[in-house]
Amino acid sequence: MQNEEKILILGGSSYVGRSLSAELGYARTICTYNSTNVKNGIFFNSLTMDLADVVSNPEGISHAVILLGDTNPETCAADVQKSYALNVDSIKLIIKRLSEWHIKPIFASSEFVFDGTKGNYVETDPVNPILTYGRQKVEIEKHLQDYCENHVIIRLAKVFGDRLGDDTLFTKWIDDIANNRTIRCAYDQSFSPIYVRDVVRVVIQLTEANCDGIFHLASTHAYSRVELLEILLKHVNKYVDIDVEIVRCSILDFDLLEKRPLNVSMVPDKLIQTIDFQVSDIESTCKDIVSDIFENGFDRLIDKPIETQNERK
Ligand SMILES: NC(=O)c1ccc[n+]([C@@H]2O[C@H](COP(=O)([O-])OP(=O)(O)OC[C@H]3O[C@@H](n4cnc5c(N)ncnc54)[C@H](OP(=O)(O)O)[C@@H]3O)[C@@H](O)[C@H]2O)c1
Repeated sequence: MQNEEKILILGGSSYVGRSLSAELGYARTICTYNSTNVKNGIFFNSLTMDLADVVSNPEGISHAVILLGDTNPETCAADVQKSYALNVDSIKLIIKRLSEWHIKPIFASSEFVFDGTKGNYVETDPVNPILTYGRQKVEIEKHLQDYCENHVIIRLAKVFGDRLGDDTLFTKWIDDIANNRTIRCAYDQSFSPIYVRDVVRVVIQLTEANCDGIFHLASTHAYSRVELLEILLKHVNKYVDIDVEIVRCSILDFDLLEKRPLNVSMVPDKLIQTIDFQVSDIESTCKDIVSDIFENGFDRLIDKPIETQNERK
């Protein structure tokens, strides 16, 4: 990628998009938002607008990172038609425009393209989504493979951050602990969560290396949700006596519209080899998150770059 070429972030207001644009800087990015205004962002509702209405100089853009969509499996299942219009129809139109402009799409797919019966999925494993959200991701993956010669598909594991208020894996639990809220935690759901800063670095490196293809972006080990909570509690215990009620339960005990896949862990080896990337270790990252929050005080970290959103999936 040449320095003067820009990266279009479709869904610049998303959790991942805000971290990515913060890292790349305003000079190198064009960010869209829909309902959540972001600094220097362009309003773009993909349900009602054509990308050509808002992007005036496509020749200056090398890659477009497609992050926008309904990213909550529950709302996707609650109104399949509505989520399909956004997650499939509108993204196909975006891809068509990008192809016309010779801009390479980088599509954020998900671990939920798998049915969760195997775990440790590699890129060559067959997809078999059991969630509406996962089926929609698969439809775009296939569309890219059929109609777009050059593209990148990044299947993201569950993304977590390090800021109180970002409502991701560890920080959400720290917030629960601080506010004495009961934590219900599944022992039978496994995944390989990925640090948001890794997601940002990988997207940038994939654009710089001008890669193509499917990549799994996940931690190098699979963990059950209970194991992840135990890792967190071990570190939090060094700072405070934990007094919250912890209820270990099955994922089936949660009142969800669709049954969740049980083990969606993925193996990131292909990515590691392709761009010589070192994925952050979960245990040491968790330790750093806890020490940063507890040694620097809660107040300092609230409302920092990664802002509070609705409770995350
Ligand atoms: N976060 C994860 O753990 C995770 C895991 C696997 C895959 N992914 C994938 O990674 C991508 C980013 O995830 P995220 O969690 O960062 O997303 P997110 O925070 O849920 O943000 C969703 C984005 O979609 C935009 N959007 C919603 N409706 C729109 C519309 N009608 N027109 C245009 N934009 C619209 C939102 O804009 P406004 O906020 O401005 O309305 C926002 O920028 C998604 O594709 C997601 O499926 C995420």
